[in-house]
Amino acid sequence: MDRRPIGIFDSGLGGLSILAAVRDLLPWESTVYFGDTARYPYGSKNQDVVAEYASEIAGHLVTAHDVKLVVVACNTAAAAALERLSEELPVPVIGVIDAGVRAASIVSGSSRVGVIGTVGTIGSGAYQRAFLKVDPSVELNCQACPGFVELVETGEADTESARVLARILLQPLIDAKVDTLLLGCTHYPFLARAIQDVVGRDVILVSSAEETAFEVHHMLEGGGLSGRDEDLQGDELYITSGSAEDFATFASALLKRPVVNVVHLDFSDLNVQE
Ligand code: DGL
Repeated sequence: MDRRPIGIFDSGLGGLSILAAVRDLLPWESTVYFGDTARYPYGSKNQDVVAEYASEIAGHLVTAHDVKLVVVACNTAAAAALERLSEELPVPVIGVIDAGVRAASIVSGSSRVGVIGTVGTIGSGAYQRAFLKVDPSVELNCQACPGFVELVETGEADTESARVLARILLQPLIDAKVDTLLLGCTHYPFLARAIQDVVGRDVILVSSAEETAFEVHHMLEGGGLSGRDEDLQGDELYITSGSAEDFATFASALLKRPVVNVVHLDFSDLNVQE
């Protein structure tokens, strides 16, 4: 039995949607979550810069926290750095893009799928390539949604501003009559209410969270890394590059339960060049 924690990271709070699914499926596993809130958003940054950040954070999770697996709970970072991390790290690495594509192709009825994500993710072409591999017959409509991540990070996910922005950004997908909408950014499940209000109830929203959790389960079991013990509740540690107090407040609101055990990490501790 391997009781080392699972490392999960994102630019900020969005990866908590993945963390929640992982903890739900594997409650006995301990987790260390890193939210790079001081440097979010990643989606508007150059891919090389994002890859550098991802490499530093994942390296820190392995060396300082001895994680047995790293989940890149950020589409933008996965698009920019998944291959690099898989080469660099001594532990398995899981991204969220393939998981989301699998989930969307399972539920899509007409094969008219919309994908929304950050400018970085959509611009990288990662989803377009992943769908080509899984199901080339899918008629894909990709749309970047700048501003969505900020709404989640500032606690405005369930506001009129969110619905106004969603109406503007999602109109092309409504016009394209997509029947499935893949949330290609881990922040977006926290905007699901606003998004669903705008696209209508006939469109199925799909996130990569559950499918990613299944992938984690599969990888742990297959690799002899599982810490399974039905009698145990895994520990949780949260690390943020921003304010620990703000992180605890916003994370508790998003997860609808108290999030404690939050620590602040200075970039100088990570040897990161700002
Ligand atoms: N949650 C990240 C993602 O999945 C958001 C990136 C950002 O900070 O822009 O892409």
